[in-house]
Amino acid sequence: MKTSLINIRIRQPDDWHLHLRDGSLMQAVVGQSARVFRRAVVMPNLSPPITSIEAAINYKEKINSATPLGSSFEPLMTIYLTDDLSPNVLVNGYKQGVFFAAKLYPANSTTNSSEGVSDLRLIYPLFETMQQIGMPLLIHGEVTDPDVDIFDREAIFIERHLEPLLYNYPALRIVLEHITTENAVQFVENSSRNLAATITPHHLHINRNAMFLGGFKSDFYCLPIAKRERHRLALRKAATSGKPCFFLGTDSAPHLRAFKETSCGCAGIFNAPVALESYAEVFDQEGSLDKLESFASLNGPNFYQVPINPDFITLTKKPNQVPSFIEVGTCENKVEKIVPFHAGEILNWSVLTD
Ligand code: DOR
Ligand code: ZN
Repeated sequence: MKTSLINIRIRQPDDWHLHLRDGSLMQAVVGQSARVFRRAVVMPNLSPPITSIEAAINYKEKINSATPLGSSFEPLMTIYLTDDLSPNVLVNGYKQGVFFAAKLYPANSTTNSSEGVSDLRLIYPLFETMQQIGMPLLIHGEVTDPDVDIFDREAIFIERHLEPLLYNYPALRIVLEHITTENAVQFVENSSRNLAATITPHHLHINRNAMFLGGFKSDFYCLPIAKRERHRLALRKAATSGKPCFFLGTDSAPHLRAFKETSCGCAGIFNAPVALESYAEVFDQEGSLDKLESFASLNGPNFYQVPINPDFITLTKKPNQVPSFIEVGTCENKVEKIVPFHAGEILNWSVLTD
């Protein structure tokens, strides 16, 4: 049978938000991102978190050693902001080229965030420093007050914290990470060019029903939690709009199956094995494949003021069977697994490898 292939060739993309973890888990997953992305902003929420220049250098070396030979993958390191972090660490780490950006986790907002910031006002001097030196601030934008409904946490963060932050630090470059609401889309679109947002593949594909379809599906539990359909549609429109303030950040967050499927399961979706293919699916469905390159490969570098990648990659429209799980080693003779996003599905797009 003759099949006609549709190929699209785009500049090599970057992942502007990625969790690589540590140890054997990191070794098992890094190749999945390096297969497609040239650079990735690596999240610092390890246990303990990356809060010093030495820790970031050490972590970067470990990632480089775990990267498959011949890959030009470059991890861009971030520092985890805490209530008592010294501005000097930011200045020195940024000026030495160790830190690409700093990450703000409101304390207890997500995985390994208990040492995050308990009150944003405590770190206003850090924002002042970052504004002065031009260091980008990456934000997990959710309030953590237990009386705020989990589905409202992002919208309320924007009103209570992001608005004052932009007002007080107009020259600070900020990325609101993994946005999940129409509120965030509109807020970012209507803000200055110093504010941008990343959008994950999973928030483009699923709404909150995915977690409860026919029983509780912890594979779709991530933070910020997926919202109503109206919000998913707004995110799809934003991502495929080509607007420079929206770009790719997978938030691929691997957790072993055993830690997802338990009485207190971890938040996170491991999408690295099919991340770009998953985005391509959305852009194809929206009739916007011509905007995929802006979202995946141009808008991020332009916002961060770094060069666009020199190489190109090709996506081809052909069936792509996603495995039901990925083995990541053994523990006490039991195989450890991670279930990837789109597990068991057949996607329509594949990345061509030489
Ligand atoms: O779903 C998530 N998983 N959201 C985050 O913010 C953190 C991440 C993780 O580290 O597992
Ligand atoms: Zn994340």
